[in-house]
Amino acid sequence: MRPLVAGNWKMHGTLREAQALAEGLRGGAERADLLVCPPFVHLQAVEAVLRGGPVAVGAQDCHAKAKGAHTGDVSADMLRDVGATHVILGHSERRADHGETDAVVHAKAGAALAAGLTPVICVGETEAQRLAGEAESVVTEQLAGSIPDGFVAAGGIVAYEPVWAIGTGRTPTEAEVAAIHATMRKALVGRFGEAAKATRLLYGGSVKPSNAAGLFALPDVDGALVGGASLVAADFLAIAAAVPA
Ligand code: 13P
Repeated sequence: MRPLVAGNWKMHGTLREAQALAEGLRGGAERADLLVCPPFVHLQAVEAVLRGGPVAVGAQDCHAKAKGAHTGDVSADMLRDVGATHVILGHSERRADHGETDAVVHAKAGAALAAGLTPVICVGETEAQRLAGEAESVVTEQLAGSIPDGFVAAGGIVAYEPVWAIGTGRTPTEAEVAAIHATMRKALVGRFGEAAKATRLLYGGSVKPSNAAGLFALPDVDGALVGGASLVAADFLAIAAAVPA
């Protein structure tokens, strides 16, 4: 399948910086689909820069409800309305900073699907969990709890992001990534059937131009979710160019 290289811009950048970054990506990439996920306030401006081109725009979160008295929150319908096609859900920073549980992520993903957005559901173990030998069981449990029915049929995307690899410059070994991705594929096929063989499984956590090719060569790694390196257009494009021909 054609890989997806997604940029999670997190809480970075002025409006002008976001527009300039988007302008640098406007041509897309030859061998990968590209997605950028700016902060909510920059979504419309970034979408305007990228409209009609090959690069998709997504958000970094949404609320589980379609509307209502939820100060500070944004609904999936609102995101769709301003041109977003994807939404990252259950990122470990949201799980940690906002106490999001698998049940919350599940509800948000259901709202995203109902609004016609493609959810990018994030899972991943902490360092303590990996050291305790629990990485596979943690990820399997998060997948089971976070992913709603209909996810695979709607083209939902999963991102494996070990918490200890995010923003640290450390990554699991390629064998460790391959093992988790194989486990995720097996779990998804077990629940959703053969259709889940086409579900994109992204790796995220300190992806850089220098390690991207090795990651993309692994079985069941169908792209990347990139944080820091997605804030520099040349680096993000270099990661996308590392997709095997
Ligand atoms: P880094 O690429 O900065 O490690 O961030 C990964 C991430 O959290 C993407 O969602």
